[in-house]
Amino acid sequence: MKLDKIYNLDVFDFFDIVDDASVDLILTDPPYNLKKAKWDTFVSDEYFFNWTYSWIDKAIQKLKPNGSLYIFNTPFNSSFIFQYLLSRGMVFQNWITWDKRDGMGGAKRKYSNGQETILFFTKNKKHTFNYDDIRVPYDSANRIAHATQKGILKNGKRWYPNEKGKLCGEVWHFSSQRHKEKLNGKTQKTKHITPKPHDMCERIIKASSDENDIVLDCFMGSGTTAVVAKKLNRRYIGCESNKEYYRWSLEKLEQIDG
Ligand SMILES: C[S@@+](CC[C@H](N)C(=O)[O-])C[C@H]1O[C@@H](n2cnc3c(N)ncnc32)[C@H](O)[C@@H]1O
Repeated sequence: MKLDKIYNLDVFDFFDIVDDASVDLILTDPPYNLKKAKWDTFVSDEYFFNWTYSWIDKAIQKLKPNGSLYIFNTPFNSSFIFQYLLSRGMVFQNWITWDKRDGMGGAKRKYSNGQETILFFTKNKKHTFNYDDIRVPYDSANRIAHATQKGILKNGKRWYPNEKGKLCGEVWHFSSQRHKEKLNGKTQKTKHITPKPHDMCERIIKASSDENDIVLDCFMGSGTTAVVAKKLNRRYIGCESNKEYYRWSLEKLEQIDG
C-alpha cells in the first residue's frame, strides 16, 4: 500500500490493498442513507446497514491493536452502529455530539435536528489520546482570571487553571463547512454537498494520532481528512469512488505543497 495517497476506488477494493493492522487512526464520514445524493441512496435500510457493517469489519481489520476509530453518522444510524461495534469487541470511548450550528430543519411536530454523531471507539485501552493538544477555552473568563492569581480551593488544595484551557468535552460546537462558506446568509453551491469542518477533523487527528502516524479515511469526499492530516504532519491514505470529488481532493492536496 502507498501512503500519502487517495485511491479512486470503491471502499471494498481499497481495503484489499491496505495492510492489516497498519493504521493508527480511522476517521471516516460514510454515506448516511439520507438520500441526499445518488451515493447516499440505498435500496433499503437493511441493505444500508449490512453494507455499513461490512466496511466496518474491514476497517477494524486494518487498525493497529492500539488504533482508534471515529465514525460520523446520524444519531439514529449511530445507535445501530454503536451496538455493532460493541459486538465486534471494540472498546467504547465517546458518543460525541456535533452541534452543527446550522442545518435546522423545519420540523413542527418534533424538535428540529441540528446535530450529528461521531462514535469514538478503540481496539484496546492503550490508544493514543493527546488531551493536552485539544484543550478548549474555559467558559467563565472572570472566574478564571481570578483563579489564575489566587487559585480556587478544591478539596483542601488550591486549583489553578491550565493556561491551555480546560479538557475537551464530548459535545462539540462547530459550524458546518457549508454554513461557514455562506455569502450574505446564502448557502453557496459547492462541489461536494457534505464537506466536514476542517477544525473539527483537526481536533480528532490531533487527539488520536501523533506526527507520522497513519490516518485512514475510506470515504474521502472532498479530501478533508487528507488535507488536515497532511497539514498536521501525519501520513494519510484513503479512497473516494466519485471521480470528480477524487480529482478535487488531489487539487486541494497539491495546493498545500505550493
Ligand atoms: C459524507 S461524504 C464524505 C465527505 C468528506 N468527509 C468531506 O469532508 O468532504 C461520503 C463520500 O463517500 C463516497 N462514497 C460513497 N460510496 C462509496 C463507496 N462505495 N466507496 C468509496 N467511496 C464512496 C461519496 O462519493 C462521498 O463523497
